[in-house]
Amino acid sequence: MNEHSNLQGSQSAEEIIALDKRHVWHPYTQHGVEVEPPVIARAKGASLFDADGREILDMISSWWTCTHGHAHPKINAALARQADTLEHIMFAGFTHAPAVNLAKALSDLLPDDLNRVFFTDDGSTAVETAIKVAYKSWVNRGQTRRTLVAFDGGYHGDTLGAMSVGRSSQMFGAFKDLMCDVRVVPYPATFEGDDAVEEREAGALSALEALLADHKQDIAALIIEPMMQGAAGLRMCRPSFLKRMVAMARAANVLVIFDEVATGFGRTGKLFAMEHADVTPDIVCLSKGLTGGYMALAATVVRDRLFDIFLGHDFDRALPHGHSFTGNPLACAVALASLGLFEEEQTMARITQINARHRTVLDVLAARPDVMRPRTLGSALAFDFGNDTQYQSDASLKLRAWYLANGLNIRPIGSTVYLMPPYCITDDELARAYATMIEGMDRLASGSL
Ligand SMILES: Cc1ncc(COP(=O)(O)O)c(C=O)c1O
Repeated sequence: MNEHSNLQGSQSAEEIIALDKRHVWHPYTQHGVEVEPPVIARAKGASLFDADGREILDMISSWWTCTHGHAHPKINAALARQADTLEHIMFAGFTHAPAVNLAKALSDLLPDDLNRVFFTDDGSTAVETAIKVAYKSWVNRGQTRRTLVAFDGGYHGDTLGAMSVGRSSQMFGAFKDLMCDVRVVPYPATFEGDDAVEEREAGALSALEALLADHKQDIAALIIEPMMQGAAGLRMCRPSFLKRMVAMARAANVLVIFDEVATGFGRTGKLFAMEHADVTPDIVCLSKGLTGGYMALAATVVRDRLFDIFLGHDFDRALPHGHSFTGNPLACAVALASLGLFEEEQTMARITQINARHRTVLDVLAARPDVMRPRTLGSALAFDFGNDTQYQSDASLKLRAWYLANGLNIRPIGSTVYLMPPYCITDDELARAYATMIEGMDRLASGSL
């Protein structure tokens, strides 16, 4: 026994909180005001259980990662099997079955010649890789293209390149001097009953057209979260916009990156959001749902013809990029098990049912004077309230705390309340979540939060 043996054993919630307070720096958290977080002891299906056994429905799938539910027996078994066989091996100069089989499975699921998979660790590094691949592909073709194009409100992660293309997301003002050159064009977000969407789309497309006309020789790539911006507050766009935007980029010979970190693996009602518009990007970034929410793994998948630009006889032409845990066998085995469940459990059909349930609530929401822009896509349901769009607005923090106290993990973003449950959620659990979500809005309206 040593003084750290406790870290593996049973500790009281108070002991864990005390250690957390003393030693841990949480993501996107102002520790000066943050209240004590619940200690989650275990999870099953759509439910989290705190140290006292209190149930919390995970209505945002633990930052949109959890797809089939927590502690799925088949994924657990795949993880245990892989841990017994090969836990890790460096991925430069070595290979292994879980990684190649996962790369093949992703290539089969993605359209056209999106066949070449670069594994990384999370959404940010998947985007960072995509940006570097795009930039270096031009370098290898004898061109320097320093500019990237992104959409207003887009969020792509928090490493330097990813943060740069997410510069309009309100998160990263403090780092603006470190960012690379990014041009931001308007994003035509839409919602139920929107009668001005065409005008907004025309504005966005003409801004893009003007930018491409003036700067296409400098633009390495354009990046977008297809169909739905996540962190901007689940802002949805129409497939027709996506299609026209991609056609425009193609005509200008600008590479297209789809950031499907949040939208991938069923979130929008298709396995990949690009399927709504039947378009293929040059590069797609995947993470979050890739491992069913189990492990840190990401994939940047590129078209064959783009990969070929990196082939040659000297290292100068290659991609000088990679991580210690690239292609980790445990994560790849878990991802393969998770992909298998989409077929075995008819997951896409369940997402269609979840969307039908969301649609019934949409009418209730639309009838409220305090609800704006109600919208749904696949497993996602969202609406806006109030005018304070700050990431952690006062109202969003109050709502979050009340929902948590009442058994729901819902984290409003600024003035957006949203649900994005794991696909295993039952109709009863959904009904419970809707009722509590609406009660929270009632309390906010009456000032009794
Ligand atoms: C669309 C999108 N891209 C990238 C990221 C960054 O992913 P990660 O937090 O895993 O680095 C996120 C995270 O929310 C995201 O929503």
